[in-house]
Amino acid sequence: MEVLETVELVREWRGRHRTVGLVPTMGCLHPGHLSLVRRARAENDAVAASVFVNPSQFGPGEDLAAYPRDLPRDLDMLSGEGCDMVFAPPVAEMYPADYQTWIEVGAVADALEGARRPGHFRGVATVVAKLLGIVQPDRAYFGRKDAQQLAVIRTVARDLNLAVDIVGCATVREADGLAMSSRNTYLDAAQRRAAAVLYRALTAAEASWRAGERDAESLRGRMRAVLDAEPLAQTEYVSVADPVTLRELREVGAGALVSMAVRIGRTRLIDNLVLGG
Ligand code: PAF
Repeated sequence: MEVLETVELVREWRGRHRTVGLVPTMGCLHPGHLSLVRRARAENDAVAASVFVNPSQFGPGEDLAAYPRDLPRDLDMLSGEGCDMVFAPPVAEMYPADYQTWIEVGAVADALEGARRPGHFRGVATVVAKLLGIVQPDRAYFGRKDAQQLAVIRTVARDLNLAVDIVGCATVREADGLAMSSRNTYLDAAQRRAAAVLYRALTAAEASWRAGERDAESLRGRMRAVLDAEPLAQTEYVSVADPVTLRELREVGAGALVSMAVRIGRTRLIDNLVLGG
């Protein structure tokens, strides 16, 4: 496995491979990331991953400095899955001193995470477009846990006519349902137990929906009730939204995106599921 730090070397690597799958990451890898690598491995001649903690997607007061970093461990895990190349650039390679181009995403970035994390999707869209431009993959793989991020990236790829398939992959969960996330490493033992409440709340809403409830506000109330029963959880939002526009629904049909952001101590966790999915 080659580990490359410059755009120039990645371009040279790209020229040596026919079809390429890219798995963009911020490192601190977990089995969720590895499932993306396995999918990319199955669908392409060569697999590239990027490990880059992108400063432009963190707001002031967010966890950029504290974000867990362990490149040697990430490289071991990637090479164990048969990844062929890892792009791990220094910040100055991605954002040199005279850097001045940003992608402003429209309405798909306004609700949910976008409303609570101003500038977040501008940073995500910009870095993903840059990574796609650098690696020029045929396919790029993203987890559905970050549902709005996936919707934003699909919108960017469509609107900028990028010649890449954006592939959304299933959320990988712990035995108690907690979605795998690099930020789970922030949780102490009690918080980790409490964090399972997100999935319990999502599945409670799903069960109500399957039992015939079609009123979105009732499903939101069901999720809030489950979350409120967990003393360590502070709900930031619960949402029942259209999966494409991310606008809140009043009546809920199959395919609706049920999602939430919840703080457990100082750790902010998000999760979602698609009704009838
Ligand atoms: O999901 C992530 O890890 C990041 O937002 C991404 C897509 C790698 C962009 O920095």
